[in-house]
Amino acid sequence: MRAVARAHPNIALIKYWGKRDEALVLPMTGSLSLTLDIFPTTTSVELDALASADIVELGGETARGTAAERVTAFLDIVRRLAGSSVHARVSSRNTAPTGAGLASSAAGFAALAVAASAAYGLDLDGPALSRLARRGSGSAARSIVPGLAIWHEGDDEHSYAEPVPGPDLGMVIATLDARPKTVSSRVAMRASIDTSPFFPGWVDSTRRDLAEMLQALAAGDIERVGALTESNALRMHGVMAAARPPIRYLSPQSVRVFDLVSELRSAGLAAYATADAGPNVAVLAPAADLAAVRDALASEVPAAQLSVAHAGPGARLVGATEAAS
Ligand code: DP6
Repeated sequence: MRAVARAHPNIALIKYWGKRDEALVLPMTGSLSLTLDIFPTTTSVELDALASADIVELGGETARGTAAERVTAFLDIVRRLAGSSVHARVSSRNTAPTGAGLASSAAGFAALAVAASAAYGLDLDGPALSRLARRGSGSAARSIVPGLAIWHEGDDEHSYAEPVPGPDLGMVIATLDARPKTVSSRVAMRASIDTSPFFPGWVDSTRRDLAEMLQALAAGDIERVGALTESNALRMHGVMAAARPPIRYLSPQSVRVFDLVSELRSAGLAAYATADAGPNVAVLAPAADLAAVRDALASEVPAAQLSVAHAGPGARLVGATEAAS
């Protein structure tokens, strides 16, 4: 069987930073994100009864090392669920510009979860797909879901993402630096748990931020949504700055964009900055204001590559699942 699926990246408004269980990828806290409508990843999975190992191709090149191992470990989970021992050919392509901080594992493992489960004949509903994607990369649990998504903390059965209603928000992605990061978020999370004295405070305050975020979204209170988004992101970066040795992903240019966004607010635009495990900044704003935010940033940071994103679709099959030729 062969199946092809497509998924989009997501950016968290309330961040996932730290695992309670590394093997099951259970988060220390819940998180909340916006799935975007740009930079999709398309992944095909084709079963090959004659193959003696999985063959993994990423962006047209055969994957080796950790990248290939993560895909094979993920397929092992799918095979266990399906009661199969057949290997597969996986081919995945993402459209994010290199280093955009969006070529992340979220879209990749969400697309792989949908394609692999279909190819192996599993019939999984949204929560089951989200739980599966989570095993590949935590944030992938949220890219199964369109638009705003909450990923619940909890045990294996209950830790999945589902949609959350809210106002029509989008993001301007400011790509500032295309170099790959030197510390993976997986490693940086572990270091934060093990060595940052702020970690317990992060867990407590993020649980409170998430509860408050749900209220703010339900009320359509964009100012509160934005303030929580920006503050939660800076707290995450503060937790890792307090690790030993310290971890810092934000560059002077990133901080400059946070300052510019603050100036845009003073000028009357509802714009709020966030950043993941890298120097690039995502600016949250009401969908109607995104063009104005982009234009304002374009004149102030001409070196940045700016991409406007709206709320995007959840991961889904593209085309019919078919018997391999
Ligand atoms: C900073 O989902 O990439 O983007 O579960 O170890 O694969 P693993 O980590 P990953 O971490 C994402 C961290 C973040 C915050 C977020 O997306 O919530």
